[in-house]
Amino acid sequence: MTCRAVVAGVGHYLPERVIPNSELVKTLDTTDEWIQTRSGIERRHIAAEGETTSDMGIAAAKAALESAQFSAQDIDAIVLATSTADLTFPSSATIVQAGLNMRQGFAFDLQAVCAGFVFALSNANALILSEQAKRVLVIGAETFSKIIDWTDRSTCVLFGDGAGALILEAREGIGSSADHGVLSTDLHSDGQYRDLLYVDGGVATQTTGYLRMQGNQVFRHAVEKLAQTAENALTKARMTSADVDWIVPHQANIRIIQSTARKLGLPMEKVVLTVQDHGNTSAASIPLALSIGVARGQIKVGDVLLATAIGGGLAWGSVVLRW
Ligand code: UT7
Repeated sequence: MTCRAVVAGVGHYLPERVIPNSELVKTLDTTDEWIQTRSGIERRHIAAEGETTSDMGIAAAKAALESAQFSAQDIDAIVLATSTADLTFPSSATIVQAGLNMRQGFAFDLQAVCAGFVFALSNANALILSEQAKRVLVIGAETFSKIIDWTDRSTCVLFGDGAGALILEAREGIGSSADHGVLSTDLHSDGQYRDLLYVDGGVATQTTGYLRMQGNQVFRHAVEKLAQTAENALTKARMTSADVDWIVPHQANIRIIQSTARKLGLPMEKVVLTVQDHGNTSAASIPLALSIGVARGQIKVGDVLLATAIGGGLAWGSVVLRW
């Protein structure tokens, strides 16, 4: 028998306020047509004044617990992927832990920017396979609206806020690709590219800072690296793209998603797409897409999913899992 980290529940939270492109056009030198054709984004959710990453993480976690029919007392660990932690410390994961009235287990943040959820899934899988935890709550939660320069049209039209959560549980498998749960992971980073996408603040500057991005350079890397890591993860899972039911990509840009699907030889009908409604929610984008994919009736038990993401670092990676 082989231990597998299997999905037991999923949920999400989106802030109430929605900003359509038409609202941004009023204050920026941009057009709805530019935003849609260059990125695929039509609208995004933005956190309310005072609404934090941990608030959204708690809401998404509660939804995931409900879908798994677990209570917070059933969870051994929380891994929270975020680049917009409420505070420098303590971790937003421990704030979520307190918000769930969870006194047992352990919680920590993981920071790999837009690739954060893929890194978090891989780490949660490792916690389960190494028998450090039986049930792990894996959350992606972000409030990028608070690190966006709202006068910079090249970045502010692209991002949004939200949170998604998944519960992974240790179950027995037979060790073949027919198993449910995480089947392979593939992670990479290369810090030489740090200037392509970064926040110009932090402890070193004693400011929060704003997101800065050389979009077209990141685009170039994304198109090349996402297909590559996806192929690696499929090979590790002893699968090919023909086995994939759903690509669940990081939702940064429809053109990057189309290119990845094309390179993998898969039609857009096999992609869970939320970029039009959420924009780029960084580490929250994949768990949001998973939760919405299930709610739409797209993702079903037994489906093979390929999650793939890239972001600041650069950091990128993929996870293959059977739902
Ligand atoms: O999640 C982390 C990973 N991040 C990403 O994956 C983002 C990757 N990059 C992208 O998605 C795209 O590069 C963007 C959507 C950011 C930009 O699309 P692009 O086709 O690469 O455009 P560009 O950056 O090359 O800019 C083209 C033009 C520029 O004008 P000039 O220099 O050609 O005259 C920009 O100034 O578009 C201009 N521009 C805008 N025009 C209208 C930039 N932002 C805007 C805007 N409205 N909001």
